[in-house]
Amino acid sequence: ADLTALNTLAVPARARYLADVRSVDELQQALDWAAEHQLPLQLLGGGSNLVFAGDFPGLVIHIALRGRRLEPLDDNSAELVLQAGENWHEAVLFAARAGYRGIENLALIPGTAGAAPVQNIGAYGVELCDTLVSVTALDRRQGRVVVLDADDCCFGYRDSLFKHQPGRYIILEIRLRLSRCAPFKLGYGDLQQTLGVTGDDGGLTPLQVAQAVMSVRQQKLPDPSNLPNAGSFFKNPVVPLEQYRQLRERFSELVSYPVEGGVKLAAGWLIDQAGWKGFRNEKVGVHDRQALVLVNHGSGSGADILALAEQVQASVLEKFGVALEMEPGIVGARA
Ligand code: EPU
Repeated sequence: ADLTALNTLAVPARARYLADVRSVDELQQALDWAAEHQLPLQLLGGGSNLVFAGDFPGLVIHIALRGRRLEPLDDNSAELVLQAGENWHEAVLFAARAGYRGIENLALIPGTAGAAPVQNIGAYGVELCDTLVSVTALDRRQGRVVVLDADDCCFGYRDSLFKHQPGRYIILEIRLRLSRCAPFKLGYGDLQQTLGVTGDDGGLTPLQVAQAVMSVRQQKLPDPSNLPNAGSFFKNPVVPLEQYRQLRERFSELVSYPVEGGVKLAAGWLIDQAGWKGFRNEKVGVHDRQALVLVNHGSGSGADILALAEQVQASVLEKFGVALEMEPGIVGARA
């Protein structure tokens, strides 16, 4: 089966077998079948946070569990329940249109609801874990469905239990707590400018905030359907205070934010300063409006993307002494 249309980097790759599963029963059948034939397994949601390095010699399970609902808790709050295969951005608009706040800053993030907890998606000062109540998952180790609450998920910056124990959990459903009156998070300069507000949320609706986020993202981030990409390709690195001070002496413009345990640097700035912004070869390149995003100009393979990523990492390490960690997962053997 061809996976090109199933990954937002649009790199060509094939799976030996591909199953679309629309129910937990179908999922279980697919898992049993793979076990019976001793095939390696790969789960796939929106394909927006992975790089196919080569063909996959086993069964790819495309999670297509659909369904979403708002369960009111009281006059002001509700839980948004999403099956894993629901499109994340559509779910954001669904909640915003119903007047619920909490995830509007996460508009236009590609991918599915089920993939959202894995990397704890985040943007403009909001992370999924801020509203997440629980994750329902098939625990393949215990062979049963479990409900993990937010604490169980060990969320961190672009990090969770699901990254630490790859293959163990298959996310089936997520549950988020939303509110009609929670304050918006409008701290990001770009967002304030677009909305024309400062601090106070002066009568804004969650849909207006979501639309502002969409317009900010559209200005900087390439739409995967026009220019294939996997969003930020590296995490923003955290360095110890002492290393930050030394860097700051050499590079007075360094973009950084204090965090627990050190200082977070803007990887996009580091890559930009190392001269990569807008770089391209015949196949792949570095986006010209946001250096943290690698793009496929059409004929690039996963190996081409990974080779470029390694060049970028080597050059940032050489110039700044900072190691960049890749954000998307690598699937399949490199040719
Ligand atoms: N910058 C540059 N040159 C660049 C890119 C960025 O100088 O080419 C500077 C910017 O001027 C800014 C700073 O770096 O001062 C940060 O840039 P930006 O606000 O675009 O955010 P980011 O840190 O690059 C992160 C997330 C994004 C998220 C935005 C907004 C990560 C890895 N990325 O990017 O998430 O949308 O903040 O909150 O944390 C994603 O994960 O796929 C993603 C797009």
